[in-house]
Amino acid sequence: MKKKLIAGNWKMNGGLAFNESLVAALRAGTVPPDCDVAVCVPAPYLAHLQTLLAGSAIALGAQDVSQYESGAYTGEVSTAMLKDFGVRYAIVGHSERRLYHGETDGAVSAKTARALAAGITPIVCVGETLAEREAGQTEEVVKRQLAAVIHVNGHCISEIVVAYEPVWAIGTGKTASPEQAQQVHAVLRAQLHAATDRSALMRILYGGSMNAANAAQLLAQPDIDGGLIGGAALKAPDFLTIVAAA
Ligand code: PGA
Repeated sequence: MKKKLIAGNWKMNGGLAFNESLVAALRAGTVPPDCDVAVCVPAPYLAHLQTLLAGSAIALGAQDVSQYESGAYTGEVSTAMLKDFGVRYAIVGHSERRLYHGETDGAVSAKTARALAAGITPIVCVGETLAEREAGQTEEVVKRQLAAVIHVNGHCISEIVVAYEPVWAIGTGKTASPEQAQQVHAVLRAQLHAATDRSALMRILYGGSMNAANAAQLLAQPDIDGGLIGGAALKAPDFLTIVAAA
């Protein structure tokens, strides 16, 4: 039985006092045994979060990882460094990285391979912009993004988590309808199915203004296996409500 995964993406938010109070509130809540939960935090706080989460059911995640192993890559964080702090998941290819940091499909594929080689589960993000959706290119765009990752990672692809995040829904309060999301998730599932016989066991998360009010409906869709949560992950009651909905 495949467990759902609810992963918080804190983005560039947090601080020592904030982290402590948020994690204390999360730890006071319930993580059902049939749901995996993770928080993906800014790199400088990995050590802090490792301590705060010790002994809890909440796993630690990073928001990015270098495609390189080590060396002269100023500002980059390697998989070995993430492993030092018990990191289980790394978001790869988030649309904000693609948009503001020029991350290409090639870089996203290489980062995915690097994470897999280190035993870190990459949460690979795909998604179309509003202009692409309006031009009827949604399927073409997400398939191109996922195909690049499949091409580089071959049969190992079964070990990744995919996150469908329509760019127009991120941080905007505009959520894809459950039907819109399911439609794209089904396309991604079919693409994974062509690449691995384990596609049914893989998790495809939805992300983009998922919140306490809309999570249950989204998570009820047959191909939505969890959520990548931005804004609502910064409020413990909201995040815990989403976990309970899963
Ligand atoms: P949001 O962000 O939930 O704030 O829309 C989701 C994400 O970017 O991962």
